[in-house]
Amino acid sequence: MDRIDIRGGKPLSGRLPISGAKNAALTLLPCALLTDEPLTLRNLPRLADVDSFGHLLNQLGVSTMIEGARPEDFGRVMTMRASRVTSTVAPYDIVRKMRASILVLGPLLARAGEATVSLPGGCAIGNRPIDLHLRALEAFGAVIELAAGYVKASAPDGGLPGGVYTFPVVSVGATENAVMAAVLANGACILENAAREPEIVDLCRLLIAMGADIEGVGTSRLVIHGRERLHGATYRVMPDRIEAGSYACAAAITGGSLDLIGAEAADMMAILAALREAGVVVEEHKEGIRVSADGRLKPLTLSTAPFPAFPTDMQAQFMAMLALADGASVLTETIFENRYMHVPELARMGADISVNGRTAVVRGVPKLVGAPVMATDLRASMSLVLAGLAAEGETQVNRVYHLDRGYERLEEKLSAVGADIERVGDG
Ligand code: EPZ
Repeated sequence: MDRIDIRGGKPLSGRLPISGAKNAALTLLPCALLTDEPLTLRNLPRLADVDSFGHLLNQLGVSTMIEGARPEDFGRVMTMRASRVTSTVAPYDIVRKMRASILVLGPLLARAGEATVSLPGGCAIGNRPIDLHLRALEAFGAVIELAAGYVKASAPDGGLPGGVYTFPVVSVGATENAVMAAVLANGACILENAAREPEIVDLCRLLIAMGADIEGVGTSRLVIHGRERLHGATYRVMPDRIEAGSYACAAAITGGSLDLIGAEAADMMAILAALREAGVVVEEHKEGIRVSADGRLKPLTLSTAPFPAFPTDMQAQFMAMLALADGASVLTETIFENRYMHVPELARMGADISVNGRTAVVRGVPKLVGAPVMATDLRASMSLVLAGLAAEGETQVNRVYHLDRGYERLEEKLSAVGADIERVGDG
């Protein structure tokens, strides 16, 4: 199992390219199922989850062809084609390894009139139910059965009649599944209190490029008029706002200056506002965003919430950064029930953090000290890397397969801007 060794204390500086967004790619990929024509995605990040999703699509009858990256992109080009859907089953052994597999449910239902998908089960940060996905599809006329750990969805013959669904809580994945099911429905599908994350805007933009009829893109009310069929498209995956935010924290925590090339400020307003409030200098320019810091950071009071508020996927990274701030910060995690697994590991490096339910108080300390630490989930792993970049001495981050799910070529990108970091495989 690989690990990453970091010798901290070096301010980072230079240009760091931002990859295509993992959480956009994972909802754009299943759109290949919605047409029998080729769908080409550019700027696709080289990530474990993207590869896993490609294998799942192959099992459903989608051909996939990878090309190299175009000069203006950091990621690869993949062309997919579902001439025919040869299976409508997403098996347990795939879904348990990548819960985003649940995002084939809506497209299979739309294209083939049925889908059998293993229940994803929980993960390190929470039990991750899919009840909202199922309620939304039922509201559009799907028949849902649960049996033996699988959900089986079917449309009345001839396709989904359409309907209206109001989400009781905002759900990114449930919104994505519902939108993908709706684009081939027989009638109108309306979603109220839909998620507004930029990744959903990216999904709607792709679907519209494929011929879908969607009103209210970017708002919490989406009106989708189903079409008879969709056609193929070529589409560039949006830049990853969470990767960009994570590397912005790397500049801040090391007292350095990074140019995040390709970062899209409009997707990151709450993240950039929090960085500025902490005393970090953030300048938008034509190639991306420059992030610089040169002294102790100010403490913050932050609460995670759905877009456009401060994203839960940035909570762990900010906690690492604020561990060295000049005072006490208060972080509240409102989205997931167990997203503080990075706390005990940061504490082993000298951070002073106390957790009470969903709230964590982070008291700034003068320095962090490198130590062997254990990654538990994707964003927690990144918070340990950030702490290691600032800590005195060496930090060994174990179980880096968590990192490989969301950060493309992390050690290559960080080495290029001055980090003393290397991946150590134990075969
Ligand atoms: C997406 O997960 C992201 N993953 C997550 O990023 C992100 O943290 C999350 O949205 C919130 O922004 C991908 O896009 C692949 P939700 P998702 O449905 O769709 C509850 C990362 O680090 N809920 O918006 O699963 C749920 O338990 C990952 O990149 C239900 O109760 O998140 C949670 O408390 C981690 N029933 C809340 O809603 C449901 O049917 C928000 O979940 C669905 C969700």
